[in-house]
Amino acid sequence: MPREIITLQVGQCGNQIGSEFWSHLCIEHGISPDGTLQDFATEGEDRKDVFFYQADDDHYIPRSILIDLEPRVINNILQSPYANLYNPENVFRTKDGGGAGNNWANGYHQGETICEDIIEMLDREADNSDSLEGFNLLHSIAGGTGSGLGSFLLERLSDQYPKKLLQTYSVFPNTEGSSDVVVQPYNSLLTLKRLTRNADCVVVLDNAALARIVADRLHIQNPDFAQTNQLVSTVMTSSTMTLRYPSYMNNDLVSLIAPLIPVPKCHYLMTAYTPFISDDAATARPVLKTTVLDVMRRLLQPKNKMVSTTPTKRSCYLSILNIIQGDVDPTEVHKSLLRIRERRIAQFIPWGPASIQVALTRKSPYVPSHHRVCGLMMANNTSITSLFKRLLTDYDRLRKRNAFLDIYKREPMFADGLEEFDNSREVLLDLINEYKACEQPDYLK
Ligand code: GTP
Repeated sequence: MPREIITLQVGQCGNQIGSEFWSHLCIEHGISPDGTLQDFATEGEDRKDVFFYQADDDHYIPRSILIDLEPRVINNILQSPYANLYNPENVFRTKDGGGAGNNWANGYHQGETICEDIIEMLDREADNSDSLEGFNLLHSIAGGTGSGLGSFLLERLSDQYPKKLLQTYSVFPNTEGSSDVVVQPYNSLLTLKRLTRNADCVVVLDNAALARIVADRLHIQNPDFAQTNQLVSTVMTSSTMTLRYPSYMNNDLVSLIAPLIPVPKCHYLMTAYTPFISDDAATARPVLKTTVLDVMRRLLQPKNKMVSTTPTKRSCYLSILNIIQGDVDPTEVHKSLLRIRERRIAQFIPWGPASIQVALTRKSPYVPSHHRVCGLMMANNTSITSLFKRLLTDYDRLRKRNAFLDIYKREPMFADGLEEFDNSREVLLDLINEYKACEQPDYLK
């Protein structure tokens, strides 16, 4: 029985990473851009039905809802070769809307007015599934639509579908360079409250780390979104590989996520991937050797992580899952795990077992591979708090100056005061403290 997952792509970032994800999935499953099965593809080897369903004429349609408060990005998707892939009934764009103006409160408020249409699409998709496992939200936390409308939808979903998994792929703003949205600390803080309260699992994708990886590893200076989104979609497709090409383990989302999140509140995951290859092979540095041990070691190196964190002496892993693809002998996995443990390459929580899980997965037969083995790490590490602290510092700096608050005060949630900001700050501080507490030996006492 498939365990279906419905994807909501919200705002510019959400739709751009979403369209990259769907084109990647089509290639991996032998589906052509118009949804029909390619001549060379066979039925039955994979589980297309987790992410797609079939129309009456048998072509495949993504279980996806495209949402934006301005039409440009979705129009681009609907003028691309993938225009006919999506269900036109699952597109919500305000035709002459100007987006949410990088204002979380505006995105949230527009959510209140338009939600019935979107909920109707969601309910229809949910009814169309035999055994719905959950929802994936793709968005950025820094703008107005993905953050504000995304927050609103998270609240509604957790209220309406309390038993379904709510996972997000959340793009965090680049706080290292000059920011493209001045109010991003406000928007990020308000979104983090909902990600903490309403989501079951947040896969953190940090634009600073993504830009660094593209520059360092693929030799592309000043990467554009198309290039960083290739990395994002690699993470998304690899992390769902065991669901789509099932073997004897980790065949549903909950069995992947549950071991990674021993403490429900601490549900922010970082990822790493190796080896990276660029579409342009000439610009990619060759990786000489890919044994399981090499891949597992590289996954633990900071330069391969898609989140820029500053670990402290106490930082530790709550749990690690390595999804390894390729030609692998299980005894090789066992030996590599022993070696990683012996060498103490990764530091774990002092109050629980060193949980490194490995999921071996099949590969798509339609995608040629340059490497014997490749791997994705999904990890829960307390150093994620350094990212939250950076956001908090940026927020405090803006708030102290009362900068740009007028645009928020114009929206209903802030008309009577700014308590929502204070409350969101408390939620984030609480989260940081929970992660810090996990670093202590007496956490369970
Ligand atoms: P409004 O523009 O206010 O309606 O909201 P929005 O949600 O559409 O905004 P957007 O998604 O553009 O969010 C802005 C943040 O997302 C900034 O931090 C951008 O750097 C980042 N961003 C936008 N598009 C992309 C993308 O395609 N990929 C990545 N990785 N980041 C993106």
